[in-house]
Amino acid sequence: MSELNKIALKIISNGKGILAADESNGTMTKRLEAVNVTSTPENRLLFRETLFSSEGLNKYIGGVILYDETINQTTNFGKSIPDLISSSGIITGIKVDTGAKTLANSSEEKITEGLDGLRERLDKYYELGARFTKWRGVYAISDKNPSKLSINSNAHALARYSALAQESKMVPIVEPEVLMDGNHSADICLSKTSEVIKKCFEELTLHKVDLSGIILKPNMILAGSQSRRKILSEEVAQKTLDCLKNSVPNEVPGIAFLSGGQTEIEATENLNLINKYNNTNFIMTFSYGRALQQSALKVWSETNKDIQKTQNIFKHRARMCTLAAKAKWSIELEN
Ligand code: 13P
Repeated sequence: MSELNKIALKIISNGKGILAADESNGTMTKRLEAVNVTSTPENRLLFRETLFSSEGLNKYIGGVILYDETINQTTNFGKSIPDLISSSGIITGIKVDTGAKTLANSSEEKITEGLDGLRERLDKYYELGARFTKWRGVYAISDKNPSKLSINSNAHALARYSALAQESKMVPIVEPEVLMDGNHSADICLSKTSEVIKKCFEELTLHKVDLSGIILKPNMILAGSQSRRKILSEEVAQKTLDCLKNSVPNEVPGIAFLSGGQTEIEATENLNLINKYNNTNFIMTFSYGRALQQSALKVWSETNKDIQKTQNIFKHRARMCTLAAKAKWSIELEN
């Protein structure tokens, strides 16, 4: 077993998943302002250190993805953030892309940037304690999109990033996110997501990435958020499994879904059913941002930043997601 494979398994085994707390300052500002909190470095740190210092979190969370600002911060009780995370047996990860920009010659689409100087930045993050990394490619569905141009160029960038991350002894999370915005059907989401993921693995293979030392972070197969043809959770699970069975090579140890705008309960229920019907060798778990943090952020703002109440609600969500990753969740457990 390679070192990278061991790290990947440590992050996602036994029902554990990933907390995606890597919102850029722009995104985090939107999240904080939505609950009437001013977005300052201090407030961003305070909310995040409240989550990371939750007692017993390592039963549910194997890895935390940070943003550049956070990995360089020191907690209000004097520990660096990566030390706080590793002291509870959780692995530190870092988002290393620098964001999605307009794709030249396909101006409705995006290409993710951040390859220039990446090798040097990776070395710095390893020194700070990171052992895994994340890069997100983003694709929107419309009549003509995602285009071949965006599918090929984002897959190329994801592969070059992954090769560099592994060279720096860190596990790359490969995140091709097909957005749920739009009125497309779930079957369109299925065919587009399959095409996107297949192209990613073609490029990862070309770039000699060790597939046993990555984690795939895809979207689930859903109808578009404006579609009138919504599908049941059972179908989400079946279609998601069909998609991944046909597009992900067997060497990949695990798949950690993004929540992508689903509610906390939807993201939990869908993951539970995916695991109930999982007929693949892949570990299927979560790498949620909003679906782990939404209620906690609301309680944090409403209780004047009460640490205990915020941690209780956050740990409840993390525990529910872990139960879903073991196909042991049910709605009754929510109360
Ligand atoms: P969501 O779970 O909120 O989609 O965030 C996950 C993530 O890391 C998106 O890049």
